[in-house]
Amino acid sequence: MKDVTFEAALTSSTATELNKPTLRHFLKTQDFTRAELQEILDLMLLLKNARRANAVPQLFAGKTVGMIFEQPSTRTRVSFEAAATILGGHAQFLSPTDIHLGSKESLEDTGKVLSRMVDVIMARVDVHSTVAGLAEGASVPVINGLCDWLHPTQMMADIFTMFEHLPEGKKLDDLKVAFIGDATNVSNELAMICTKFGMEYAHVGPKKYHMTEEIVGMVNDNCNEYGGSFVMTDDINAVKGFDILVADSFYWFGQEAEKEERLATFMPEYVVDQRLMDLAGPQAIFMHCLPANDQRETTRDVMDGPRSVIMDEAENRLTAQMALLVYFTHKDIPAPTAEVVKAHEDGITAFLGKL
Ligand code: CP
Repeated sequence: MKDVTFEAALTSSTATELNKPTLRHFLKTQDFTRAELQEILDLMLLLKNARRANAVPQLFAGKTVGMIFEQPSTRTRVSFEAAATILGGHAQFLSPTDIHLGSKESLEDTGKVLSRMVDVIMARVDVHSTVAGLAEGASVPVINGLCDWLHPTQMMADIFTMFEHLPEGKKLDDLKVAFIGDATNVSNELAMICTKFGMEYAHVGPKKYHMTEEIVGMVNDNCNEYGGSFVMTDDINAVKGFDILVADSFYWFGQEAEKEERLATFMPEYVVDQRLMDLAGPQAIFMHCLPANDQRETTRDVMDGPRSVIMDEAENRLTAQMALLVYFTHKDIPAPTAEVVKAHEDGITAFLGKL
């Protein structure tokens, strides 16, 4: 290795070339083809099996995911942090009260700066424009850890959980999935990914809380391309014969003022309780991204009952985050050869010896 002096180094760029040549962000599943999402699911299966064997390859070693949280989180925060650790890397928690986020500097600049220091940016944000702004500036992958509109990392866990609980003889595209309730970030993303996997999908809830035209447009595009079908109705009887009933909160952060009105509109008709599970039929299983308000959108007996897969779904957040960290970084930087490591070590040792 040649001697490098500070003076000589100043003649070239000081930027460290850590940029992924084929940079992709994970802001919504709709940006990915079914084949690409299937690749992530396949990777999830391999990594889950490796974890069961306590033999996860250290595919994130030396890497860091910077995690911005504008809202509280149990599953998303813990699963990303655990995933980075299991894969040999590190997760850095960044509270908006600790960093400059949208004040003092632009979101694009924050994305640029973080990209010089971490390998992946994960952001849970109040509004989609925040995570989009970070991605605008970032030169490393930005993962949407939930925004007001979408929740793509949740969906990788959900589809994987559906795969693990496929009814005998059925494939993913044979499934009939009904979401009951408000058009939340979870249900928007669920509608898109279920139809992308060719499923029969129903959104069942009061008309006022149906999905927007923009989401419906993407869902219909998926049905045309991938052969799924889609219905949006306020008729609770639409759940009859469905394989999976999915619930989510009737109100979220920022909707506290609407809480009473929302509860009065959704309850009791759209609560996923035993009555609704029975209406769907004996084949139906129950999913919920959690956190759940038992005795509101669902009931304790359904959550803890034999047809609930909510804890598998929660565990699969970790399965998904492991796969996402690997999927979006594995092409970044080839591992250095032993010779390269030795040359750098020798150079630094020689320099320190002269001090
Ligand atoms: N489902 C989900 O995103 O959970 P957290 O809010 O706990 O992260």
